[in-house]
Amino acid sequence: MKKTSSNTAPIGIFDSGIGGLTVANAICKLLPAENIVYFGDTAHLPYGDKSPESIRHYAAKITHYLTEQGCKAIVIACNTASALALETVRDNAGTKIPVINVVDPAVDYLAQHFKGKKVGVIGTKGTVNSRIYVKKINKVEKSIDVAQLATPLLASMIEEGFFNNKISKTIINSYLEKKPLAGIEALVLGCTHYPLIKPEIESFYKKKITILDTSEIVAKAVADVLTKSELLNQTDKSGERQFCVSDYTKGFEESARYFFDDKIKLKEVRLWKE
Ligand code: DGL
Repeated sequence: MKKTSSNTAPIGIFDSGIGGLTVANAICKLLPAENIVYFGDTAHLPYGDKSPESIRHYAAKITHYLTEQGCKAIVIACNTASALALETVRDNAGTKIPVINVVDPAVDYLAQHFKGKKVGVIGTKGTVNSRIYVKKINKVEKSIDVAQLATPLLASMIEEGFFNNKISKTIINSYLEKKPLAGIEALVLGCTHYPLIKPEIESFYKKKITILDTSEIVAKAVADVLTKSELLNQTDKSGERQFCVSDYTKGFEESARYFFDDKIKLKEVRLWKE
């Protein structure tokens, strides 16, 4: 197995589809010299409705693939996989490759900035049923009242390119009007797809509450981990970006181009097909 921990090695980033591109984009903006390998598991999208066992199975295989590409760190750019498969990714990455998930940096941020407040979390069924945010926030800051709501239609809707239109507005509003979210002072976008509908969520709340897109917070956590492990790529050249999907979709390619301009290289890697 080609394993390397050198500074020039890429950061491996994965999600079920385009959602993790919001995190990848924030990482590339903060750390432009870093090379990245992004894996979108489009063959199994959406992750939110799958069993924990399936998510762990997918995450293990993707982690193997990313380590085989020589990745020096792995970012689980997916709340569902962060909630259900963090240990699996750690076990498969081995002790030398740091693993960064998207939940812990968000929890640390909330603990610092929202003491004594009611905070809402929206995410997939997998994330909400795991109660990962409730458990982790309660552990570090008991004074935060966490209200969660599963919003299962949103990731697929976004993946299909439905945002900023009448249909998306109706679906988003009908979720946000639900009782558990009444009286919140901040809303965590607990799915990496949701930054793409942040403007619509902001317009529902008329900018009266904080909408927490965690991609920049996660990018900062990645920078901290790489700095501490002395793994930052010390070069002035901008990094190479490689994008892989387990099943080619035009939608993924268009979204990757939207975030990373026309120069993207998209490769289909049939991890589950012979
Ligand atoms: N973007 C992912 C998340 O953060 C997964 C969404 C899905 O595939 O259901 O949970």
